Amino acid sequence: MTAEKGGYDHFMLKEIHEQPKAYRDTMRGRISEDGRSVVLPELKVTPEHLRGINRVHIVACGTAMHAGMVGKTVIESLARLPVETDVASEYRYRSPIITPETLVIVVSQSGETADTLAALREAKRCGARVLAITNVVGSSVAREADDVIITLAGPEIAVASTKAYTSQLIAFYLFGLYLAQTRGTKSEADIAHVLAAMDSLPEQVEKILAQAETVKGIAEAISKHSNLFFIGRGIDYAVALEGSLKLKEISYIHSEAYAAGELKHGTLALIEEGVPVIALLTQEDLYEKTLSNIKEVKARGADVLGIVNEGHEAEVAKSVDTHFAIPRTLPLLTPALSVVPLQLLSYYASLALGHDVDKPRNLAKSVTVE
Ligand code: G6P
Repeated sequence: MTAEKGGYDHFMLKEIHEQPKAYRDTMRGRISEDGRSVVLPELKVTPEHLRGINRVHIVACGTAMHAGMVGKTVIESLARLPVETDVASEYRYRSPIITPETLVIVVSQSGETADTLAALREAKRCGARVLAITNVVGSSVAREADDVIITLAGPEIAVASTKAYTSQLIAFYLFGLYLAQTRGTKSEADIAHVLAAMDSLPEQVEKILAQAETVKGIAEAISKHSNLFFIGRGIDYAVALEGSLKLKEISYIHSEAYAAGELKHGTLALIEEGVPVIALLTQEDLYEKTLSNIKEVKARGADVLGIVNEGHEAEVAKSVDTHFAIPRTLPLLTPALSVVPLQLLSYYASLALGHDVDKPRNLAKSVTVE
């Protein structure tokens, strides 16, 4: 069994550590040799069709939905197309406006989630073209979608998704860039710039993983609490949601994720002496604003962990109790790094509490009922 886990104590820890490889495998063969464009030979959709779409819907469940929320920002900023995100269990019931000019992207690690599959079928029935981002070749979602981008994370065993999520992010970056080059919304130089930064991600994840012991210490302190909050703005908010879900899934500690500026509209009432708040501050243009939200929770006694970009440590140390720095990358790419300490945090918190990390109570790896 330990051999199966590659020497790690749990599949989740093994899968967290497999992320640099998953990033490389998902990128391999999808970037031109000169590093200046994205090539997605698996896509059957024509460039003309992609130039004709006027909106994108991203539909998924759970962790895949959180990847989709990052995907929304990626596609909107690179390809300047309006993107809506929906959880699959809601999508069909709100009569979404789906036309042949809509591109529907379904995201599913397993490719078997019942609600996601039903959403895919509804989108096709309404005449939209469906692109699936999935980890399983030959899955129902992969078979029924018009186009498929396979994430090459390899089999994911732990119920809490880690490497599948980050590989979905990589797939969104690649597809967002592909849309941008096809629709002419970004120059070749801009695309090459993003691709060069993506090339550094696996090594940067390795740097974070080398600091697992630091995160373990923080997680042990956090495991003593029964309530905590994650805050962030913009793309950091999407990562906050994933960090919060991960923690709930396997440590059973109640947490909520809030858009940092929204906290004061109700939830601030729950902040009292010693409550942990995990704040993500990776977006330079939102840094000052998030810092002022940190001051709001600090003034009420919160114990703040800041996830910051390298270079901000000394400055942020004045406003937070603990901080963890991630290597520098482009603002759009930070989720592929900032989620890693949050995955480790959940893992070590669950471990400290003696829970079954790989098989949390009440949850299934793949949910095939609606
Ligand atoms: C289940 C799993 C989650 C997962 C979700 C969607 O609830 O426990 O970890 O995110 O299903 O799964 P999918 O296979 O569609 O990505």
